[in-house]
Amino acid sequence: MKANITLLPGDGVGPEITAATRQVLDQVATKFGHEFIYHEALIGGAAIDQTGTSLPPETLKAAEQSDAILLAAVGGPQWDDPTADVRPEQGLLAIRKHFGLFANLRPVKAYPALSAFAPLRAELLEGVDILFVRELTGGIYFGQRQEAGEGDTAHDTMIYSRDEVQRVAHVAFRAAQKRRKSLTSVDKANVLASMRLWRRAVAEVHEDYADVSLQHALVDSCAMHLLTRPASFDVVLAGNMFGDILSDEASVLAGSLGMLPSASLGADRFGLYEPVHGSAPDIAGQGKANPTGMILSAAMMLRYSLELEAEAQAVEAAIEGALADGARTADIAVSDSISTGEFTGAILSHLR
Ligand code: IPM
Ligand code: MG
Repeated sequence: MKANITLLPGDGVGPEITAATRQVLDQVATKFGHEFIYHEALIGGAAIDQTGTSLPPETLKAAEQSDAILLAAVGGPQWDDPTADVRPEQGLLAIRKHFGLFANLRPVKAYPALSAFAPLRAELLEGVDILFVRELTGGIYFGQRQEAGEGDTAHDTMIYSRDEVQRVAHVAFRAAQKRRKSLTSVDKANVLASMRLWRRAVAEVHEDYADVSLQHALVDSCAMHLLTRPASFDVVLAGNMFGDILSDEASVLAGSLGMLPSASLGADRFGLYEPVHGSAPDIAGQGKANPTGMILSAAMMLRYSLELEAEAQAVEAAIEGALADGARTADIAVSDSISTGEFTGAILSHLR
């Protein structure tokens, strides 16, 4: 098949992991006889430096004409001025919103090959396989805001409508049906009105999915149980901010934040795919970054936007193969580590 992919390398380690991911996709194209056409565009700090805005219109135009977006990471200390009007992260939020990508899928697996490295005891990690479904275009990220400016108060608003909760809940229940049929919905219904609505709206959707068991969990206790009994979770549904926090926490289960991919989907097959981690400016340009999160995101793109399941599985198997051989970037190494390029080479050799 022929597919158009918008590549957004962004900032920090973004360009390095994008180059690695492109090599893997090129290998997939050769092996399976596809043609991937890449359109590289600006987002985040790199876009601010060159155009003054974090999401230039040319980027949106390129993305609108493509089948999927593959994004690396945005942000860095040089754009961190809290009083600045333009921030790299605004570009990311705006592109998610522009394409109506309300469902963010973040799978978290414990890799047996990394059990010696993971901070949690190996027996706790056995069988860990969680799918986070994070609401991505609503909640406190998009509610009305008041900056402090010259004054002493500022506020953000956590707002959800029943429809916003229910459309993402349907995604989570359908995913649970294809997995182990258990859904944990995360809220803070004991304190927040928006989260009482969340709980009620999810319970209503549950009526359509009698084969799935539903547990409501308060976010604080859920945060603890994710570390004390991670293997008991199947699908975890959360709002925008709680999903952001819990998915970083859960990356500990996978060994490193560098391992986690994500897919952001809307009503159709179009999607935005990005690693869960940020731009890691402290190691940018040094060939130390772990490209796994972005390469697994590309696999999710093959699966969901391009409907190339065998190709997606081949990429995932190649990563597991490289890990089983002992290939380790610095973030997952107990002792010897290899560079981003060498690690990518190990993946490519399994893919061949
Ligand atoms: C993520 C990131 C973003 C978010 C930031 C960079 C705005 O942390 O994708 O998890 O909070 O959504
Ligand atoms: Mg985050």
